[in-house]
Amino acid sequence: MPPLQSWFPTQIYQSRLLRQASASQQFNRELLKECHQYRDFDDAGRKWSAKNYPGGYTSYGSLDKLHRISSTFGDLERHLQRHARSFAQALDWDLGAGQLILTDCWINIMPRQTAHSMHLHPNSVISGTYYVATPRGCAGLKFEDPRLSKFMAAPPRTATARRENQLYITYPAAAGSIILFESWLRHEVPANPVAAERISISFNFAWD
Ligand code: NI
Repeated sequence: MPPLQSWFPTQIYQSRLLRQASASQQFNRELLKECHQYRDFDDAGRKWSAKNYPGGYTSYGSLDKLHRISSTFGDLERHLQRHARSFAQALDWDLGAGQLILTDCWINIMPRQTAHSMHLHPNSVISGTYYVATPRGCAGLKFEDPRLSKFMAAPPRTATARRENQLYITYPAAAGSIILFESWLRHEVPANPVAAERISISFNFAWD
């Protein structure tokens, strides 16, 4: 056994939602259309966003169960289920008689300068995001080392620290792909630096 071993890893899952490129593009076009339609018709959501999501639109405060009202989002749910099961398997979770259930699913539209500060997703086990529109140069998804609050006197990392030893990791946003993580893992979307809208759909899975 080598002298140095790593334990208690923090796992992040990233994948294309669909394997076939043409099916993926078609599905994404449909989702993009619906994201704009919901924004246009969701007066309550736009009002909520003006207060809680400056500059952008999110349906988090108004329409957060889109998989129950739209068949396109219902299809998304089925695809997400498959990936969530793979992730749970990779984590060696014993779900017993329970299942992973998609509880919430909402739209985020971020024009230039809209940001979403560091947070986690309470009452869920797996959270994640599907990317619908990711203009070149748009903000990625930044994760924080979950041990940060325990470090106390730990020295900082060197400028050339190995990736796995750094305190933050940013995943670029890529249309057609998903990122899944355990819901306790803190993350943020820095201010979107480009003019074009960055559009994503975020979601939570519960174990029930
Ligand atoms: Ni989040």
